[in-house]
Amino acid sequence: MSIGPILVTGGSGQVAQALGRLGPPREMDMVVLGRPQLDFDDAGTILKAFATRPWRYVVNAAAYTAVDAAEADEAAAARANADGPELLATLCAEARIPFIHISTDYVFDGSKGTPYREADPTNPTGAYGRTKRDGEERVLKAGGHSIILRTAWVYSDTGKNFVRTMLSAGARLPKLRVVADQKGSPTAAADLAAAILDIIALIDRDGWRPGFGGIFHATGSGETSWHGLAVATFEEARRRGGPSPEVEAIATADWPTPARRPADSRLDNGKLAGTFGIALPPWRESLARTVDSLLTPHE
Ligand SMILES: NC(=O)c1ccc[n+]([C@@H]2O[C@H](COP(=O)([O-])OP(=O)(O)OC[C@H]3O[C@@H](n4cnc5c(N)ncnc54)[C@H](OP(=O)(O)O)[C@@H]3O)[C@@H](O)[C@H]2O)c1
Repeated sequence: MSIGPILVTGGSGQVAQALGRLGPPREMDMVVLGRPQLDFDDAGTILKAFATRPWRYVVNAAAYTAVDAAEADEAAAARANADGPELLATLCAEARIPFIHISTDYVFDGSKGTPYREADPTNPTGAYGRTKRDGEERVLKAGGHSIILRTAWVYSDTGKNFVRTMLSAGARLPKLRVVADQKGSPTAAADLAAAILDIIALIDRDGWRPGFGGIFHATGSGETSWHGLAVATFEEARRRGGPSPEVEAIATADWPTPARRPADSRLDNGKLAGTFGIALPPWRESLARTVDSLLTPHE
């Protein structure tokens, strides 16, 4: 195993921040880099960041995550979600550094009707999903020791996410309308970060095994709809003296967006459990912790 710190990209993002907060496994160091030091729009910054020192692992938590905006600028989404990850994966492969890359449930069209498994055919319904799917394919083609974790509906007490949007809208408005016919699995950034660090600790302890490479689904346990997530968020908020608006269930058709989203993007996490012995906690429990952190004053 090479020496040096773990490199985490996407420094200002939810997952990178959560990784930084948890810190590296024992006897390892971690460096979290964001823009402008590491910018997928400027390949030179990737080469420079990579060359500054030997890295032990690289975790790519940077991505173009604006699902609707990607429809109008697929080229920018492709630079961040496919070109950049391909270059990082290639550099890691050449240097024999394990590479952990994050992808999305939006590579699927949502028509399967049961939780998706890793080998199910992808069929993204929008530009974001297309560029992330291309990123997966190009990372795998780079041929190194790459692990791709497909996650979903990520939220945290920092950054831009549905839970924070609901709480701020709920503080201003007496009634919110939320889509109830899209199913998925909310995932706390802190839980995904903990899973990533557990994977790294396992590789560090036991060495790389061929079964570690490839795609794994990694979402919070359980499922709900966006409406269910909003209702649960306000249940937790109410207990802590936070906002408690009425939440009306509406259909996707009543909330038009530039990007079409999958109606049912639940992921089967069995391969992650079978290979690494890791299961992310139930989404409802992690949501309670996140709302607590957002609404409880801390010193
Ligand atoms: N958020 C979700 O609901 C969700 C769902 C499924 C999968 N995922 C995946 O999970 C991973 C982490 O997502 P997240 O929620 O932590 O994302 P996030 O909070 O939106 O953060 C994205 C990070 O990527 C950076 N970034 C954007 N474009 C970049 C570029 N061209 N070059 C370098 N950095 C760039 C952003 O930097 P700036 O702050 O400078 O823009 C930010 O630091 C991503 O791979 C994402 O696709 C997320």
